[in-house]
Amino acid sequence: MTAPLDPLHSELLHLAQEAARQAGALLRDGRPADLAVAATKSSPVDVVTEMDLAAEKLIVDLISGRRPDDGFLGEEGASTEGTSGVRWVIDPLDGTVNYLYGLPTWAVSIAAEVDGETVAGVVAAPMRGETYQAVLGGGAWATGAWEGERPLVCRPPAPLDQALVSTGFNYVTEVRARQAEIAARLIPLVRDIRRGGSAAIDLCDLACGRLDGYYERGLHPWDVAAGDLIAREAGAVTGGRPGEHPSAELTLAGTPAVFEPLQRLLGDFGAWQD
Ligand code: IPD
Ligand code: CA
Ligand code: CA
Repeated sequence: MTAPLDPLHSELLHLAQEAARQAGALLRDGRPADLAVAATKSSPVDVVTEMDLAAEKLIVDLISGRRPDDGFLGEEGASTEGTSGVRWVIDPLDGTVNYLYGLPTWAVSIAAEVDGETVAGVVAAPMRGETYQAVLGGGAWATGAWEGERPLVCRPPAPLDQALVSTGFNYVTEVRARQAEIAARLIPLVRDIRRGGSAAIDLCDLACGRLDGYYERGLHPWDVAAGDLIAREAGAVTGGRPGEHPSAELTLAGTPAVFEPLQRLLGDFGAWQD
């Protein structure tokens, strides 16, 4: 970080870090050991839902205890206006299917908006032992199994045919099928495709220089709010359809070299048409 942080942004960041750390520990330590085995029965989905709900409750209780006038938008139902101009956008568990199966790529994602603009974002990935964070204008950095903070910078430019691009597939069968068609058209034109299973971590992996690009259709604000800021603060470009912000129609992020050609290609493929 270079410039001194706005005291409000700094307060929001620290609160998001604390909430993400506590929720991450709850999810990691509270996950029943036999969840993956039980995944073949119907009940485990409820177990995961209970964990989602408990994590969101922990986050909202902690934050509203300190800042009672803030608003909330959470995947598990938190939805209040607030009066302070600050709104928290929360996905308490992003990567639910990975969590269910015992795969490590899942995260707690918490973003703080001031007057509609994201100013702080934290994505904690407890099974990776890594947390990614950013403040508007203050850069992005990660903490993990190393000393101190590691600044995040996205990869140097690569042509699209050498780009490693991640994507995701929606839960709705018809949408997934259409997304698979687009991915099939894209795969011969890029280095390779990844499907990590957590949109928030995909965006942070782009910020870490572990991917050249990422796109997905059908995402919600809580999937992307924190990761989008982290990617941008690491030097990535993010957006949706040409000239637009990320939306449910398309969330796209890439290194400055990859963003535009990928956006053009996805447009040619009709990625945002039904
Ligand atoms: C999902 C993950 C996944 C993406 C899905 C999301 P959830 O969120 O981010 O990577 O492909 O579109 O819904 O359900 O695990 O919170
Ligand atoms: Ca999600
Ligand atoms: Ca979720």
